[in-house]
Amino acid sequence: MDDQKTAENFDVNKIDQAFLDDPFPTYKLMRENDPVHRNPDGSYFLTRYEDVVQSFRHPAMSSDKTVDFKPKFGDGPLYVHHTTSLVFNDPPKHTRVRKLLSEAFSPRKLSELEPVIDGIVDRLLDRLAAQGEFDVVNDYALALPTEIIADMLGVPEEHRHKLHNYSNLILGALDPVVTPEKIEDGHAAVEEFGALLEELISERRKMPEGGEMGEVLSSLIFGEVDGENLTPIELVQNCIFLLNAGHETTANLVGNGISILLDYPDQLQRLRDDPSLIKTAVEEFLRFQSPLQIGNRKAVEDVEFGPEGSKVTISAGTFLHTCIGAANRDPEKFENPEEVDIGRQPNPQIAFGIGKHICMGNTLGRIEGHVAVGKFVERFPNLRATGEKRNHGRARFRGLEVLPVSVT
Ligand code: HEM
Repeated sequence: MDDQKTAENFDVNKIDQAFLDDPFPTYKLMRENDPVHRNPDGSYFLTRYEDVVQSFRHPAMSSDKTVDFKPKFGDGPLYVHHTTSLVFNDPPKHTRVRKLLSEAFSPRKLSELEPVIDGIVDRLLDRLAAQGEFDVVNDYALALPTEIIADMLGVPEEHRHKLHNYSNLILGALDPVVTPEKIEDGHAAVEEFGALLEELISERRKMPEGGEMGEVLSSLIFGEVDGENLTPIELVQNCIFLLNAGHETTANLVGNGISILLDYPDQLQRLRDDPSLIKTAVEEFLRFQSPLQIGNRKAVEDVEFGPEGSKVTISAGTFLHTCIGAANRDPEKFENPEEVDIGRQPNPQIAFGIGKHICMGNTLGRIEGHVAVGKFVERFPNLRATGEKRNHGRARFRGLEVLPVSVT
């Protein structure tokens, strides 16, 4: 079959293991042969940088899921959660909630969090140094963001081990095909985590000043914009969303970053020789292996996509898969996009999205990446892979399930 036909036959709902292991050849094929691709279910798959950016910026592109999630989740807790979190809402609701959450990410809060991040990373590195051999993903990359978000929300020590599982169960229910058991587990996770947050919120209401360094719960409870604050449901559900949004994505950035350095020893050496490259290196990890590969939008009016001369009109009501992972390797935007260059500049990667929903945690995620990867490389000069790494096998998120290494 020629490339054109192969691209036209692509079905985002029927992706195979080869795609999950390495989607980049398929992205290239699609971008070159069918950049505004129609799937058999009528949805579209966009792979050009310019189109993906347009899908995030265009006012006629909706993120609202109140209609789409109904058949899947009924009226249950997962429905309440996903339709209340700001990422699945449009203005004016989105704008209001985003403003009220923004205090959690103010420069003052972030500067309070920096020493907390340093402390967590140093403690984790001490433990790993004593172990000598470990799994980068579970022993390091996943541990950091969960701790940070637990600190932000003031979750006490004894409950922290449950957070990773809550997040998996709640996000797992978003997969395209889900068993009834998975849906039930997702509902239960929203209820259980919600109940814990309600308890923490009621304690913080009684003691507004009782938070530790970096904690943001009080500002979310008491913060006001134009005389309004978050409703109790918005407060709880968006706190749950902060865990989900900032947890696996950041873990993937750290895991993918260390894995890229192991795959490209020349780039690892470059970073060791000049540690000040860590900032551009993290941008390159985000571009080359974007933690969130595929976003989504729905057109509420007819909108044109595609290169000049072969534009395609996508009609109102159509669902779009916006492939960030493909956009970040578009040769129209990036020189030698399939190569890793930790000093790449400029690097207009869009791993955090763009437009009104651009990631609220992008500065925090970047800081975590700089500290976690930078200190890891500095601390372990004898770093080497000791076994097969394995991807976690989900198309929307790109990350590893396991990355065994030795540092002795
Ligand atoms: C490297 C790590 C991260 C990546 C790659 C990432 C990626 C993204 C992307 C692509 C979006 C846009 C979704 C859309 O437009 O539909 C987003 C939104 C969001 N992210 Fe992140 N994220 C990361 C870390 C974090 C962290 C650490 C937090 C907070 C603790 C966070 C909180 C959020 C929030 C609140 C939104 C919703 C913004 C809105 O809808 O207005 N993210 N993220």
